[in-house]
Amino acid sequence: MVTVVSHPLVQHKLSVMRDVRTGVKEFRELAGELSLLLAYEAMRDLELAPERLSTPLTSADFPMLSGKKLALVAILRAGLVMTDAITQLVPAAKVGHIGLYRDPETLAPVAYYNKLPADIAERRVFLTDPMLATGGSASAAIAFLKEAGATTIKLMCILAAPEGIAVIERDHPDVEIVVAAVDSHLNDHGYIVPGLGDAGDRIYGTK
Ligand code: URA
Repeated sequence: MVTVVSHPLVQHKLSVMRDVRTGVKEFRELAGELSLLLAYEAMRDLELAPERLSTPLTSADFPMLSGKKLALVAILRAGLVMTDAITQLVPAAKVGHIGLYRDPETLAPVAYYNKLPADIAERRVFLTDPMLATGGSASAAIAFLKEAGATTIKLMCILAAPEGIAVIERDHPDVEIVVAAVDSHLNDHGYIVPGLGDAGDRIYGTK
């Protein structure tokens, strides 16, 4: 299942990120802001349970988060900007990291780092990767999460290509994708078109 967050603030911020004139500082800030808005949508179905609280006036039952605790897992390196931002909303969430790079020739994902919270199996997992391109890295990361016992996983992306969505839907039909927009296609180098370029390079100014 794919949820495209069509909120005007999301769409405007994404358009500014796409603009080649947008510099590192603004791009990074926008990626964080957009991640908060995506998280707002992705976490819409978190469970609530009534808890007895006292206001200055009276005591009553009020909704508080309940159910599984949360884990944010970043696919390095571009996913970091998303998890860093989202911890502002859910500061008690644990944060994991999965390091993958794409083999430049085959575009296949190669793992070089995998550090997850020990109790990941008991947590709802929000996996962050700004660009869902071929889907190879995200699919491999979801497979790592499942091997570690995670059963409730959502994938949060800023942009997706139809090719990447098809891979996740084929490999992990149980994983919902929450994304700001789905673009036209991938080019021969595996970049999303029209896209926004290399998200990692634009976040960290490495190009
Ligand atoms: N990764 C990126 O950063 N950008 C793309 O367009 C595709 C993959």
